Amino acid sequence: MIEIVDMHCHILPGVDDGAANLTVSKRILQMEYDQGVRRIIFTPHYRERYFETDRKVLIEQYYQVKNLIRKMGLRIHIHLGCECHCHEQMGEHLKTGFCLTMAKGDYVLIEFSSSDNYAKIRGYIYDMVNLGYKPIIAHIERYPCIVENPEQVNELIELGAYIQVNADSVIGLDGRAVKRFCQELMKTDQVHFIGSDTHNDTTRKTNMKKCVSYVERKMGKKYVQKIFFENPMKIINRKKGE
Ligand SMILES: [Fe+2]
Repeated sequence: MIEIVDMHCHILPGVDDGAANLTVSKRILQMEYDQGVRRIIFTPHYRERYFETDRKVLIEQYYQVKNLIRKMGLRIHIHLGCECHCHEQMGEHLKTGFCLTMAKGDYVLIEFSSSDNYAKIRGYIYDMVNLGYKPIIAHIERYPCIVENPEQVNELIELGAYIQVNADSVIGLDGRAVKRFCQELMKTDQVHFIGSDTHNDTTRKTNMKKCVSYVERKMGKKYVQKIFFENPMKIINRKKGE
């Protein structure tokens, strides 16, 4: 049985539009564990004017959840990251630690506004790479300008971007067109990570187990091992400047 790593989720309580409180965090964690997730990178939102949680609060909540996991008796390793909405000061914010990288390494999970055009997205990737970061584009299937021109994905990868898609999109919960887009990306080896992007235990719950079974049927065991374990472990084992 593969030890699934979930590298994109909103489980820390009361810091964004994810888990509202520790009770919800507890339910999500139990669901993740029951589905075979054994390692999680928490990725609370950072978005100017919407979610600007102080990193001290994030760290406090991280330890609160760590304590909860111990009390629940779950064998889950956890790490802290961020889903950073791209903004002008992002480079500065990452440098000062105001925005967190993934698991203290040099990967950065980034998202854009759905109205952002391709030139803007490419510009952010270019800047991040130049600053020495490894940008992971969160749920790339959500950006209309890229979905309409899928050949741009390869261009972004060549620039130095990594690609993440959501488990729900892969299994078809966000529609058939999105499912097809994700499948095409997987078949052409243009997906590096799949995360749950879970926000709660009801409307946006984790579907990692279903997704792993689906991907295994379509792409095989070796691919599953790479996407759900080996690649996310590279995020965790990578330290700044290595
Ligand atoms: Fe997210």
